[in-house]
Amino acid sequence: MNILGIETSCDETSAAIVKDGREILSNVIFSQIDIHTLYGGVVPEIASRMHIEKISAVVKKALSDAGMTYADIDAISVTYGPGLVGALICGVSYAKGLAYALEKPLIPVHHIKGHIAANFLSHKELEPPFLCLVVSGGHSHIVEVRGYDEFNVLGRTRDDAAGEVFDKVGRVLNLPYPGGAKIDKLSYEGDKNAITFPRVVFEDGSLDFSFSGIKTSVINYLHRIEQTGVNIKEAANDEPLTHEMYSGNGVKQNKEAVTKADIAASFTEAVVSVLCRNTLKAARQKFYDKIALAGGVACNSHLRRMFEEKSEDINIYYPEPVLCTDNAAMVASMGYYRYTSGKSGSFLNLNAVPYLDITNERI
Ligand code: KG4
Ligand code: ZN
Repeated sequence: MNILGIETSCDETSAAIVKDGREILSNVIFSQIDIHTLYGGVVPEIASRMHIEKISAVVKKALSDAGMTYADIDAISVTYGPGLVGALICGVSYAKGLAYALEKPLIPVHHIKGHIAANFLSHKELEPPFLCLVVSGGHSHIVEVRGYDEFNVLGRTRDDAAGEVFDKVGRVLNLPYPGGAKIDKLSYEGDKNAITFPRVVFEDGSLDFSFSGIKTSVINYLHRIEQTGVNIKEAANDEPLTHEMYSGNGVKQNKEAVTKADIAASFTEAVVSVLCRNTLKAARQKFYDKIALAGGVACNSHLRRMFEEKSEDINIYYPEPVLCTDNAAMVASMGYYRYTSGKSGSFLNLNAVPYLDITNERI
C-alpha cells in the first residue's frame, strides 16, 4: 500500500511516499528555516504563506522522486494537529482537495504519533510494545506505545518543551535559530561539569518534566556575568567569560574560568540527564525492554550517548536525524498503521486542531 504523507504543522513543507508503513519511496522536505532565522524564531503568518507557495511543488516532487503518478497512490495521510493553526490548515486543505479529486481515502495523523512512527522507518524490526521519549520544539512526552495506534502518556513537560529551551538558550548564547543543533556541536568544546544547573525532580514521584527553571538559571547566570561588563554576544566560544565564582539559586559554578562552550555543555548535560533519568525510570517501572527516541531533540548526540551508556539491558532506538525533525515520511508511516487498524474514512470535513492531545483524539 502506497501512502502519500503531507506535513505542514510548523516550518517544514514536506511530502513523502511510503510503502506499507516501512519503506520510504520518497521524502521531500522544504525547510523554511532560513527565512525564520532572520526573525529569531518561527513567524506563524510567514510559515502559512510559504506552505501555500510550496506545497504543490513539494507533492509533485515526492511523486516524481518515487517514479509515480497520482494513480499509484492508495491513500493520503496528513498532520492535522498539534501545531500552528494556519500552517496546519494549508496541509489539511490541500490533502482534502487531493483526496476528493482522486477519490482516495484521507487519513488524519497526530503529529507526535508521526514522530514516534519515524522509528518504524529506521528500524524495520521494531514493533510495539515499547516506550518512546518524544522531544521536539513543542513537546516532551514519555509515551507507552502499546500498539501501532495505542498510546498512553506517562509523563510530559509542565512548562517548556526540551527543544524550546535549547532554542531559547541558543538565543542568549548568540547562536542562530534554531539553537538545538548548534548547542549540540558547541558542547563538544566545553566542560559539561563546569556549572551545575538545577534539575527538577517532582516529589510526588511524577515522571513529568520541567525545563523552564534550567532555562531561567542559564539566563540569570549570563546576566550576572554581563553585569561585570562582559559582552557575551561578541565573546568567542572558547574565551573565558568570568574569573569569579557565581553560585547560588540552584546553580553551582565549579571552576573559575568559564567559556560559552562550557555553558552549552553544562546546560546540555542538565537537560539530557533529566530526560534520560525519567525515561529510564518509566521503562523500569513498566518493565519495557525497548526505548525509542523521537522528535528533533532526539538528534542530540549527547542524549543518544547518555541513553546508550545508562540503558544496561534496555535496547535503545532512534531514527536517523532527517527522520527525527519534521518530515512527511513519518506521517505516511503513521497513516498506514491508522488505516490498517480501521481508522479510515472520507474525513472530508477534517479540520486543523492546533492543541490536539495525544490520548484524546476523537478520530
Ligand atoms: O521535531 P521538530 O523538527 O519540530 C517540532 O515538532 O517541534 O523539532 C525541532 C526542535 C528544535 O527546537 C531544534 O532546536 C531541536 O529540535 N533540535 C535539537 C537538535 N536538532 C534539532 N535539539 C538538540 N540537539 C540537536 N542536535
Ligand atoms: Zn515535530
